[in-house]
Amino acid sequence: MILQKIETKNIVIIGTGGTIAGVGRVGNTSSYEAGQIEVNDLVDAVEGLSSLANLSTKNITNVDSCDITQEDYIKIANYINQSSEDNNIDGFVVTHGTDTLEETAYFLNLTVKTNKPVVITGAMRPATATSADGPLNLYQAIVLARSEKAIGKGVLVSFCDCIYSARDVHKVSCFKVNAFNQKDFGCLGYVRDDEVYFYNESSKLHTVKSEFDLKDVKKLPYVSVAYFFAGADVGILDYLSKTSNGVVIAGAGCGGSSKVWNKKIEELLKDGFPVVRSTRISSGLVTSEKSLNKYGICADTLPPQKARILLSLCLSKTTDLNKISDMFRKY
Ligand code: SIN
Repeated sequence: MILQKIETKNIVIIGTGGTIAGVGRVGNTSSYEAGQIEVNDLVDAVEGLSSLANLSTKNITNVDSCDITQEDYIKIANYINQSSEDNNIDGFVVTHGTDTLEETAYFLNLTVKTNKPVVITGAMRPATATSADGPLNLYQAIVLARSEKAIGKGVLVSFCDCIYSARDVHKVSCFKVNAFNQKDFGCLGYVRDDEVYFYNESSKLHTVKSEFDLKDVKKLPYVSVAYFFAGADVGILDYLSKTSNGVVIAGAGCGGSSKVWNKKIEELLKDGFPVVRSTRISSGLVTSEKSLNKYGICADTLPPQKARILLSLCLSKTTDLNKISDMFRKY
């Protein structure tokens, strides 16, 4: 009988903090401090992980993900880019707070230059909670990161049995363990025990096909988000246009806003100031046949927090609004 040799993969687990590394009152799921446990201790605490792959760890930061900075994004991406050149490394898992996980995931999706699997996970319950979800999420993320099926799929999020694309994943619950989905796009697949099942793939450009490169980048242009509501003071746009390099509007419906906001947006665009229209609605497509100079760049299906990541990367390459508009269709 010929036995097939199963190669043991080498996976690096990168810690950044979050609830998965959180500590609180034993048993409780709320009232805890995120980012307390170092990633090597997290890995050591979960039985069975070492039989999945050869694991090594790297702590990049250990914070609540609301405190993740642009410098942290760049550090994580650069670390993955450098390490992925090592033939002995097969894939990466990033442990991260869930609150801004989708933003970091999308940033990495656009800036890491490797086909090797990069999987992000986290937890909704701290490590000290009864039925903490971190151990299983970490287990499944490693199963995904060592899988040949995850190669070339872009940055992936593994959470509560499901696989999501970094571009489309969205946090949809602020306390349930099944906290993520892709809205109209479902999920890409599942992880069950030691198996990975893929059904879908994002058609948007990512990783090695992305034109964004962090080589020599120390700081990215700053983009803010202006949340529109009925009666919103237009003065916020004046302020943000002076303090930011670009603004994303979290508009009503299909990216809409009031007459005074529209007029201000048109003036900003005429001056060449980048304005992207996205929606505060949880799903749907913001697109426009109307003129770019009047209505701005459309965020497509990106929510405001992801549209600002893309606009910031676009602005690191060009300030031409037509070129930026094209980039928003590709990514
Ligand atoms: C965080 O995002 O760091 C805290 C919340 C979480 O991880 O669920």
